[in-house]
Amino acid sequence: MGSIQFDRVSKKYGSHQVISDVSLEVKDGEFVVFVGPSGCGKSSLLRLITGLEQLSDGRVLIDGKDVSRLAPADRRIAMVFQSYALYPHMSVRDNIGFGLKIAGMSRQEIAGKVAEASRILALEDYLDRKPRQLSGGQRQRVAIGRAIVRSPTAFLFDEPLSNLDAALRVQMRIELIRLHRTLRTTMIYVTHDQVEAMTMADRIVVLRAGNVEQFSTPLELYDHPANLFVASFIGSPKMNFLPAAPSGDRDLELPGGSTVALPDGWHSRLDQKMTLGIRPEHVLYSPDEGLWEGTVSLEEQLGSDALLYVEVPSLGTITVRAVGERRFKTGDRIFLTPDASRVHLFDGGGTAIAA
Ligand SMILES: Nc1ncnc2c1ncn2[C@@H]1O[C@H](COP(=O)(O)OP(=O)(O)O)[C@@H](O)[C@H]1O
Ligand SMILES: [Mg+2]
Repeated sequence: MGSIQFDRVSKKYGSHQVISDVSLEVKDGEFVVFVGPSGCGKSSLLRLITGLEQLSDGRVLIDGKDVSRLAPADRRIAMVFQSYALYPHMSVRDNIGFGLKIAGMSRQEIAGKVAEASRILALEDYLDRKPRQLSGGQRQRVAIGRAIVRSPTAFLFDEPLSNLDAALRVQMRIELIRLHRTLRTTMIYVTHDQVEAMTMADRIVVLRAGNVEQFSTPLELYDHPANLFVASFIGSPKMNFLPAAPSGDRDLELPGGSTVALPDGWHSRLDQKMTLGIRPEHVLYSPDEGLWEGTVSLEEQLGSDALLYVEVPSLGTITVRAVGERRFKTGDRIFLTPDASRVHLFDGGGTAIAA
């Protein structure tokens, strides 16, 4: 078992409030990612789970039991960091088993646990090596092995891949997903990288300045962001945002006078000052007709698709993702039309207006 619950949790360092009244529950066996910009409180939340940091208010529950006053060692939570801090003079085998040895476990039992962890992590051929004889990815696996042998209730990962190069990060991402499928143990993974969050998580907690902005599945965050912050944080390249105002009964008016028809049921919820959001992949484009006429100011050709940065007078730059597109070059005239069924609308306070 390994459900983890925050119940009205707050954390202050001195008078500086870094976590504000957070309530959420990570279910047993889930892979949850905490994502948000640097300084938003991700590491603090992890430290509150482990007990390395004290709560200012609220409770942390593991499997329904209040652990707020338990010492870190009694919480059975394993934490894996970005800097894996292996003992340089010890072999991989001894690094993985060291915690168990300290805890007084028998040699035979330790050998069994190390063998199992190294099999799961494909480290069997490296057990006699020293950390310096390993690649960055292998060292990270040893650090994870050290956590696995303790059979924790949950694994917490604090930006564990940030030190690795891009290719290795992608590989380790896949390894961690596999590891989760094998162990089925609760994992909470912290990152500032929304791509990591989207690809790894069962559910994602989006944090900003100590507040939970949204807690949902990756696709729910992408399809139905709760507010402007989530809408701009999730998705690459970013969603386009345009100021919008109601016009008549069924339409939205944009700067420059163009109008976009609204889906049914939205009108009653409109605000005078709104923001219309449209993702780059939901802007339709054509060389000769459309709602907005613009000029391609920059073209990034990725082969599979092209990113077109289009300058539209009165609207500014609109980013378009054009799958398989090779026709348009910098300086070309282009016509754009937002796919009205895929637009997002936010009120003056930045909260999503749902149909
Ligand atoms: N021990 C500490 N004392 C004072 N302020 C801290 C301490 N640890 C973190 N902070 C502050 O708390 C905020 C959240 O930090 P942190 O949880 O590390 O964010 P993240 O991991 O999302 O980058 C930051 O403003 C940081 O400067
Ligand atoms: Mg951090």
